[in-house]
Amino acid sequence: MLIQLTYASRTSKTLVPEDLKNILASSQRNNARVGVTGALCLANGIFLQQLEGDRTAVSLLYHRILLDPRHRDPAILDFAEIASRKFTQWSMGSLASLESNRAIYLKYSRSASFDPYTMSPTTLRAFFDEIMHNAAWVS
Ligand SMILES: Cc1cc2nc3c(=O)[nH]c(=O)nc-3n(C[C@H](O)[C@H](O)[C@H](O)COP(=O)(O)O)c2cc1C
Repeated sequence: MLIQLTYASRTSKTLVPEDLKNILASSQRNNARVGVTGALCLANGIFLQQLEGDRTAVSLLYHRILLDPRHRDPAILDFAEIASRKFTQWSMGSLASLESNRAIYLKYSRSASFDPYTMSPTTLRAFFDEIMHNAAWVS
């Protein structure tokens, strides 16, 4: 069964730019192996990640990610069955800087600063649909 899981977390104080590169490298390597695809955003010190794939594979991965000291305050924002994947190009795509995607972040925000913790599942799904087509990505 295919599902998508969307969660947010806050960066820990120790996070450095090199960490992001390493997170992405691990994600691309590991996710491809277990058939998980998805996207990762970082804005205002908040990670927002959508994982899609087999229910057991996504669940196991999420629980491993939770143990990572590079983030804290995790919260599942959406967990649902999906008919098909969205992010078929990436085992894990990463959105480019906040600056280069500012208009998209603003479009789905209630206030000037992007805060996924306050977003509904419907808005989150619209946000991920939009970034799939219109965002700038880390190449
Ligand atoms: C916000 C965040 C998202 C992450 N996403 C993934 C992911 O999608 N897949 C993955 O394998 N590891 C992810 N990680 C890293 C894992 O926590 C862990 O460090 C990694 O899987 C270890 O794998 P490795 O030993 O092969 O490098 C993420 C970490 C953070 C902080």
